[in-house]
Amino acid sequence: MASNAERPRDVLVAERLQARFGAAPGWALVLGSGLGVLIDQLADAAQCSHADLGLPAPGVKGHAGCVAVGTLGGARVALLSGRVHLYEGHAPADVVAYVRALARWGVHTLVLTNAAGSARADWAPGTVVRLTDHIDFTHGNPLVGPNRDDLGPRFPDLSSVYEPGLGARIDELALARGVALERGVYVAMRGPSFETPAEVRMCRILGADVIGMSTVPEAIAAVHAGLRVAAFSVVSNYGAGLVDEAPDHDAVTATVSASVGPLAGLLAELVQGG
Ligand code: HPA
Repeated sequence: MASNAERPRDVLVAERLQARFGAAPGWALVLGSGLGVLIDQLADAAQCSHADLGLPAPGVKGHAGCVAVGTLGGARVALLSGRVHLYEGHAPADVVAYVRALARWGVHTLVLTNAAGSARADWAPGTVVRLTDHIDFTHGNPLVGPNRDDLGPRFPDLSSVYEPGLGARIDELALARGVALERGVYVAMRGPSFETPAEVRMCRILGADVIGMSTVPEAIAAVHAGLRVAAFSVVSNYGAGLVDEAPDHDAVTATVSASVGPLAGLLAELVQGG
């Protein structure tokens, strides 16, 4: 057998997940800035830090950095709070390490959430958006380099990253629960500076509705590894130039925490569907 140094990190992390939590749940939910409050709704939770699993530890305010497995409204799920970002200087392969480990462990569906700036004047902070597609401006595609044939194909198809059937189910649930949910395109920037007004205008012209600094590398790695993906943005601020106020990270976290309730309820019901 190959030594640990020769084995891919996702394989090692998947083994640790199995040892710590047992068999994989079907669903994993990744909680973005200000969305970590969902962890409080998890019953019978066992937790473990990213570092203990051998994953890079997050270093940004509002990202706690743990994996918790428990039940959400009766369904067993993994909640990941805190992720690492390209803007922290992490390599794309590090940013997506947890995604590959979850796929290896046996998770089948990944729900990514994030706080994002609005690229449109008619979507105010607090708006919850289901992502239908993305534009990648990070220049950090995690699949660059020799392909991991054991995980997925060299040239994965990205024509429906955010699985339309799952999206339709989310829309139905939102309608039934009276949750206001928009559908939109996310553009991922590398950050860490927020955009200039000209960049926000450019993003809008190119077809983006919301702007953020995460989610896209993970969604690409997830599709590559065969996971079903859904993603949500909670609008935390207007993009620069749309209003007089400048975006600010503390305000981002506070706005999202205040408007996350309806999304939390929706996610808890969604995972019941298996
Ligand atoms: N731009 C990029 N990323 C963000 C923003 C923004 O305005 N708000 C929260 N994350």
